[in-house]
Amino acid sequence: MRNETQSPGQRRRRCLVLVPCPYQGHINPMLQLGTILHSNGFSITIGHTDFNSPDPKTHPHFCFLPIPDGLSQHDISTGDIAHIISTINDNCKLSFQQLVEQKQHEIACIIFDEHMYFCDAVAANLKLPSIALRTTSAATFLARSAVISLIRQGCLPFQDSILHEMVPKLHPLRFKDLPIPRSADHKPFTQVVSETYKIRNYSAVIWNTMDCLEHSCLSQIQQEYCPVPIFPIGPLHKTAQITTSTSYLKEDANCISWLDKQSQNSVIYVSLGSIASIGEKEVTEMAWGLANSEQPFLWVVTPGLVSGFDWIEVLPKWFIDGVGDRGCFVKWAPQKEVLAHEAVGGFWSHCGWNSTLESISEGVPMICKPCFGDQRVNARYVSREWMVGLELEKMERGEIERAVRRLILDNEGKEMRARAKHLKEKVSGGGSHSSLNELVNLIMSL
Ligand code: UDX
Repeated sequence: MRNETQSPGQRRRRCLVLVPCPYQGHINPMLQLGTILHSNGFSITIGHTDFNSPDPKTHPHFCFLPIPDGLSQHDISTGDIAHIISTINDNCKLSFQQLVEQKQHEIACIIFDEHMYFCDAVAANLKLPSIALRTTSAATFLARSAVISLIRQGCLPFQDSILHEMVPKLHPLRFKDLPIPRSADHKPFTQVVSETYKIRNYSAVIWNTMDCLEHSCLSQIQQEYCPVPIFPIGPLHKTAQITTSTSYLKEDANCISWLDKQSQNSVIYVSLGSIASIGEKEVTEMAWGLANSEQPFLWVVTPGLVSGFDWIEVLPKWFIDGVGDRGCFVKWAPQKEVLAHEAVGGFWSHCGWNSTLESISEGVPMICKPCFGDQRVNARYVSREWMVGLELEKMERGEIERAVRRLILDNEGKEMRARAKHLKEKVSGGGSHSSLNELVNLIMSL
């Protein structure tokens, strides 16, 4: 992409360092952003931790820059995401600064996942421009800000009596939908969110969302929280059109030939994402509910979905033996391809933001069963604001059976599918393209 008529000063403006947060739901959108910016003429270096490092082979056109993260096996085994992120921020700053210093004169800008705020401090120290990428919904940003205030006012844990009440100024969220911390010790969560939301050195915010989907939340954030321009350029996976996998688990493509044999809109696709884990009792209720619904299903059972089990040996034997060709199990699916398949009539999801955007982008209605954090916010928006899904209150076989049949067979499900198709059209024709052009112009001007 190098234009030999440019001066050296102009040429060095095209090198970007991108630093993802090391979880699947964050790495995917950052690599997608890298692909988009690469196709706009920028060279891309991915700065990544040792923990959950991306596979350079999936992006041969990028450079990869390992940042020693100093995480111990003990840190990782806690599974406490807020603690791990906070430790990474403490440990990576110095080594990242040393690494960047060596390339400082080539770099136009550092683009960092909002949780990797050490990058912004390094950019400020080295007088380099920086931009933050936010990978959750705009509604989640507002909800997390509200949670921080409620923690400071001593309102957590919430009393049962208010759980179903609406949160003032956060329609359509109820108190039970708020992304409260998982751990009883609120300190790591408060620290990470407060640091993440601080106004810093960065020149802009890139958001993996769409103005046509989250206009009022984005406007409120722009007015009340964000003095720099916001560029909603989602859904990034659609603009990036990546064909190679960015997953750390190997995708099992056999499920596509299984889907090819199913009739249109008949299959319920079940996946709870890359981090969620559930109990043995819950997974058994899922099996009963799916069996009793009598609908075909494709189920992603990730290793560790139920702690201590590697795969489907956690499921009842009668269920695995009896399901025959009506069910397909994989450890990891090519999810975007699955959702685009005409046989898929619904997505039973934990409502991670990437899964939510991917489902909306393909016009697939959802059964929402959030596990924690922002998933509750997304689930509420899917079911109450955009009306393209229904929420499963309990992991109970009768409720699951009814939810699957409502979504796949009933008129209610057909209406949701029609709304989902309409939303897909709206989103694909939305304003993200012009936001992307403005972003590219801004980066060129830095
Ligand atoms: C995490 C958090 O759990 C989520 O709440 C937050 O919004 C983002 O970070 P995760 O649980 O992994 O993410 O869910 P999600 O955001 O949906 O991302 C999962 C990604 O993995 C999606 O891009 C999806 O396409 C991909 N995936 C999932 C596969 O490719 N195959 C699968 O079988 C399952």
